[in-house]
Amino acid sequence: MYNSNFLNINDLSLNQLQLLLDLAREFRKGKQIQLKRPVFSANLFFENSTRTHSSFQMAEKKLGINLIDINPTTSSVQKGETLSDTVKTLQAIGVDLMVIRHHETGWYHSLNNDKKITASLINGGDGSGQHPSQSLLDLLTIYDEFNGFANLTIGIVGDLAHSRVARSNAEILHRLGVRVLFGGPQKWYPKEFDAYGEFMAVDDLIKEVDVLMLLRVQLERLTHEAVDSFTAQNYHTEFGLTLQRYHTMKKRAIIMHPAPVNRDVEIASELVEVPQARIFKQMENGVYARMAIITSILDAKGLIKELPVYA
Ligand code: CP
Repeated sequence: MYNSNFLNINDLSLNQLQLLLDLAREFRKGKQIQLKRPVFSANLFFENSTRTHSSFQMAEKKLGINLIDINPTTSSVQKGETLSDTVKTLQAIGVDLMVIRHHETGWYHSLNNDKKITASLINGGDGSGQHPSQSLLDLLTIYDEFNGFANLTIGIVGDLAHSRVARSNAEILHRLGVRVLFGGPQKWYPKEFDAYGEFMAVDDLIKEVDVLMLLRVQLERLTHEAVDSFTAQNYHTEFGLTLQRYHTMKKRAIIMHPAPVNRDVEIASELVEVPQARIFKQMENGVYARMAIITSILDAKGLIKELPVYA
């Protein structure tokens, strides 16, 4: 029913996705699982993280998993060890499951094809590629709000080219039948997104959407020239959620952002915690979504004594 790795949200069938959403909601209601034997996990974050790292840790602890403390910045990665050798080392000492965030887009492809790697891999974000656990928590947040995905229009606005969140969400939302709109600087609009939705001026998009997903400008992925020519104030005025634009949104529309938020760039600071904003709710949902992801993997590996009953 489930897969033993979690690398790309679009590897899931819509049926598997629904099961994960149901499972996440069960965990939110307090459901617990029983493991057949002690399970060990390691979280390898080669890029900075607050939410993904800490909420995977919280999910692992809540599921009774033993965490192996490893930090790539103080590990033998610094002596030139490859990612594959680090993964095989941790597997050799008995780690069952690894959450990996890495700057290389698609880092997981070669590891996924390596038959010697039997430990389960979870993609905690690969470069500008995918961020599947973020997608699941975003979908959970939308599902809770609208009781499904039917008849929704969702706008994704910002630095689309460098955003793994946009890339993960665009395709899965399209598969769910959502009308997807894209906005932001045209120079950061990837042409392949035409397959999932429509590019639109931000002022028009904001009036149409039920969900506004804002993105951070990923300065760390831009060239020096692009960073030098970037002005927060200009970006905010041209593409950000200003107070003026906020007042043109539908009454029931919600505001989402994967965070970290750059206040007064993609969103006016005073709008980060307005009643329509779900930014901190997304973070809360992240723990339950990640408990569901890990549980689905443990189930695929036959490590769960008793799987929670679905709602
Ligand atoms: N949304 C997200 O991935 O946040 P972090 O980079 O803090 O993990």
